[in-house]
Amino acid sequence: MLRQVLLAASRSDRVERVVSTSPLTRDVVSRYVAGDVAAVVADLTREGLLVTVDHLGEEVGDRAQAEGAVREYLALLALLPEGADVSVKLTALGLRLSEQLALDNAATICERAAERGITLTLDAEEHDTIGGLHSVHATLLKEHASVGVVVQSYLPGALERCARLAEAEGARVRLCKGAYTAPGALTAPADIDRAYVRCLKVLMAGSGYPMVATHDPRLVEIASALAVLHGRDHSGFEFQMLYGVRPAEQERLARLGAQMRVYVPYGADWYPYLMRRLAERPRNLTFFLRSLAGR
Ligand code: FDA
Repeated sequence: MLRQVLLAASRSDRVERVVSTSPLTRDVVSRYVAGDVAAVVADLTREGLLVTVDHLGEEVGDRAQAEGAVREYLALLALLPEGADVSVKLTALGLRLSEQLALDNAATICERAAERGITLTLDAEEHDTIGGLHSVHATLLKEHASVGVVVQSYLPGALERCARLAEAEGARVRLCKGAYTAPGALTAPADIDRAYVRCLKVLMAGSGYPMVATHDPRLVEIASALAVLHGRDHSGFEFQMLYGVRPAEQERLARLGAQMRVYVPYGADWYPYLMRRLAERPRNLTFFLRSLAGR
């Protein structure tokens, strides 16, 4: 229930105005959003962590805004080390205006990224964008074999999607539970977890490169066990977690030799991202409300 309210608030301009104008929000934002992205990336890299960087922004209203997002990513690529990844939301590149526009914009970023030894992963957003996401991904793959895509385990059809994606050698697939609401999607945590494990089994058994995006300790253990079962060493898959969430666990996994990639968001358009993070964990909301009340 609380989750639904927060996700609805993530789409409300009125709530956004109230939340973003509070100076106390800054503390909560800085926990999840990088202020100086170059410095954060340098720190994480020094600690042996990999990064995927997201320039925050969703849902552009016109072509000029979509082109602005492309320029931002091109500038970002110049700051990142080889082996980094960028996470991209196709709605920020104009998906809701035209699929071709989003495809062209994503291809521009892919080309520049490839020149610098950086990969690109397409985030999964609201349920009505998932068809467009996979269509753009399939087209991009023809020219850029390393383009990754996110599958949300709460969606109906996630397992079939994983099975299809896992067929291609080296296909980069990031598996997450799903951060939005969607008609027909699983809602009970235990059901979402079971669906996650089913998808994970298919990805680990397949020919692709699974990217295990979760902070859930049980799923991290299951992924590690499945990797061993399928003869994958540390180079055959990676863990991914969000900047600011379970940082000690991120470092622990990296020390054990796992490839641990941190999803680092930055930029001014942090509001919907922050609200989704609060929806994931009610305890964070209490902390946040206390900050807003100035206590
Ligand atoms: P779960 O929510 O059950 O959390 C497990 C434990 O992790 C909690 O008990 C708590 O300890 C900790 N935790 C989780 N969230 C926390 C938070 N916000 N603050 C503090 N502690 C927290 N979703 C999507 O729909 N499309 C996408 O493209 C992506 N991309 C993506 C990339 C990466 C790298 C990650 C890690 C996640 C995503 N997600 C996403 C978000 C994902 O769908 C999901 O909402 C969150 O990861 C939370 O789910 P968990 O699997 O972590 O489990």
